[in-house]
Amino acid sequence: IVAAFQPKVLAGKRLLITAGPTFEPIDPVRGITNLSSGKMGYAVARAAREAGADVTLISGPTALATPHGVTRIDVQTAQQMMDAVNRSIDGQHVFVAVAAVADWRVTNPSTQKVKKTEDGGAPRIEFEQNPDILATIAARTTLAGHPYCVGFAAESENLMEYGAAKRERKGIPLLVGNIGHHTFGADDNEIVLFDDQGHTLLPRADKLTLARQLISEISKRINSQSL
Ligand code: CTP
Ligand code: CA
Repeated sequence: IVAAFQPKVLAGKRLLITAGPTFEPIDPVRGITNLSSGKMGYAVARAAREAGADVTLISGPTALATPHGVTRIDVQTAQQMMDAVNRSIDGQHVFVAVAAVADWRVTNPSTQKVKKTEDGGAPRIEFEQNPDILATIAARTTLAGHPYCVGFAAESENLMEYGAAKRERKGIPLLVGNIGHHTFGADDNEIVLFDDQGHTLLPRADKLTLARQLISEISKRINSQSL
């Protein structure tokens, strides 16, 4: 179906979406990151816009074009993503965290490029944990018009068990799960929705089709909550 025929189920709603990986510097030319093309998050942003929402996309480094009509804020690190979310969250009806956020950052990134040594040694890198952006927003129930929070989880095994547990741990009403790494960068995916009623499988389809189905599921849930 083309965009013009998408029902405007999110007209008047504001959605904040995170997408892509984050990049945590080791020094000015190196860093650690997560595998994520950003395709799923960008598809969700596009589908939400088609559904009439006012969409802000906070994106880690990707090679993707901004979906039409979407406001995009670029960030590199998890902390920058957290700060950008904090600056944009007020007045949002829905927060969808699709980003593959690096769980750790380098404690003391070097301001100059680290040089190789003659003795074949390698640097020891120390890490500390990044803020959990989704859990932070989900826990902030005092936010004016607390947003409906949706998480994503890519698991490499035990999706049914881990997905349900992760939804509860994050304190969110809806979690979207998929079985990990082979979908990274791919154009299609197969996802499972976890909510307080159990789980629903959305069969394999391209990411835009799945994103449109997800937006329809989100709109049903927030409209029944009369946000
Ligand atoms: N997430 C986030 N901030 C983080 C880590 C994760 O906002 N620092 C969000 C992701 O965008 C995703 C959800 O939390 O929507 C689940 O991410 P995931 O990495 O699967 O969960 P973790 O809690 O980090 O658990 P683990 O990686 O150990 O499985
Ligand atoms: Ca993680």
